[in-house]
Amino acid sequence: MAKIAVIHGPNLHLTGKREPGIYGTATLEDINNRTAAAAAEASSQVKAFQSNSEGGIIDALTQLADWADGIIINAGAYTHTSYAIRDAIAGIGLPTVEVHLSNISARESFRHTSTLAPVCIGQIAGFGPFSYILGLQALLHHIKADPRSSQ
Ligand code: DQA
Repeated sequence: MAKIAVIHGPNLHLTGKREPGIYGTATLEDINNRTAAAAAEASSQVKAFQSNSEGGIIDALTQLADWADGIIINAGAYTHTSYAIRDAIAGIGLPTVEVHLSNISARESFRHTSTLAPVCIGQIAGFGPFSYILGLQALLHHIKADPRSSQ
């Protein structure tokens, strides 16, 4: 049974209320429930975590790395700025998929760059909560194809 950690970054606790025209009306709890249901259907397991701080995300990555076979991360705005989270992903060496609710490439130019993308196996953006399900499917496929692989 593959174990997947889902990490949500800053402001994602506001999902459902925050800019619903961009991020939708599903809450973070809804997203976590849907992702957990999809994981159970695929005979896998998820643990979800949210932090508004860069250090909190790095600590979670480090702790969950002992448990998880792979990581799904939506680092929120840290996606575009954080070399520290990028280094943490590279450091733990687990296959990681970057996900976003919105299509970051179709938004402001500062959102077009991801500091995390080069250390992730791929990126899925623009499908609302379904981005997490697609990310899960991609990650499980990757792990099944090569269970020992990192990055
Ligand atoms: C986001 C996109 C980021 O640019 C933004 O800062 C977020 C959410 C998304 O899921 O679409 O907080 O990661």
